Amino acid sequence: MNENQILENLTAAPAVKKLVIHAPLIARKRKAGQFVIVRPNERGERIPLTIADSDVERGSITLFVQEVGKTTRVLGSLPMGYSLPDVVGPLGEPTHIKNYGRVVCLAGGVGVAEIYPVAAALKAAGNRMTTIIGARSQNYIILKDELKAISDRLMITTDDGSFGVPGFVTDGLKQFFTAGETFDQAFCIGPVPMMRAVCALTKTRNLPTTVSLNPIMIDGTGMCGGCRVTVGGEVKFACVDGPDFDGHLVDFDELVRRQQMYREEETVAQNLRQD
Ligand code: FAD
Ligand code: FES
Ligand code: MG
Repeated sequence: MNENQILENLTAAPAVKKLVIHAPLIARKRKAGQFVIVRPNERGERIPLTIADSDVERGSITLFVQEVGKTTRVLGSLPMGYSLPDVVGPLGEPTHIKNYGRVVCLAGGVGVAEIYPVAAALKAAGNRMTTIIGARSQNYIILKDELKAISDRLMITTDDGSFGVPGFVTDGLKQFFTAGETFDQAFCIGPVPMMRAVCALTKTRNLPTTVSLNPIMIDGTGMCGGCRVTVGGEVKFACVDGPDFDGHLVDFDELVRRQQMYREEETVAQNLRQD
């Protein structure tokens, strides 16, 4: 079997693909919170994707890809058997896993795939796990059974109320707070507005909150500066210093501005031919 060969390409939710890739060395080495940088073809750009799972026996890693633009769409359309020219990793600092006590994990959209390995590792470390995942609607929910298996409690929120608690993950967390629950540590992964809202809420309770930041990355090794973020007034490179940071110290305004830097070029790229 060829290195980086696509073993499975399944639809996990609308516009979300689950890719299983032959990458035995990465499968063996990866830890929760780490990612790979993938190039779909020789002419393509590099994009970071979190290692959602791995199977050491099979020599494979699992990625969930939300099709938001040119490269993620190309990746999502690749057939089984195709070998990716580059899968580099595992990259990034692993998530700090220990027994915190009572942990709440919050995730939305494809962030659910990114929090899954973190939640699994936290459970294995002996934490009492509350997991709150959010989706736009019922058919967008991913990894429900997998997260249920490793959570002491799983709450699902949907924006349109078609499943679980109506509203956002912050509404779910507020329900726990209102019921008098307390937590020792929170982890949150999702779109920036969600991470920002969760951090604003947890700050009111002095609940330490780790977020996984998703700035634009190119090399993933601290060389290009593309992933520069500001945390507690200090410049950090998310690919090597993170992607995990203290959410109460992150400059989210800057993150949003830098994420949008190449919107024009990204739109042009989407209209170019499919390679
Ligand atoms: P484009 O149209 O080019 O871009 C759409 C938006 O995506 C941009 O406006 C920008 O905000 C962001 N983006 C564009 N290029 C990059 C880049 N090179 N690096 C980071 N963000 C970019 N997405 C998933 O679906 N699943 C994951 O598991 C996942 N894990 C990630 C882990 C990390 C550490 C980071 C930093 C990002 C992760 N992402 C993940 C986001 C994913 O990398 C972007 O959605 C993807 O690069 C968009 O590429 P595109 O060409 O399809 O879209
Ligand atoms: Fe280049 Fe982080 S991606 S420095
Ligand atoms: Mg792109």
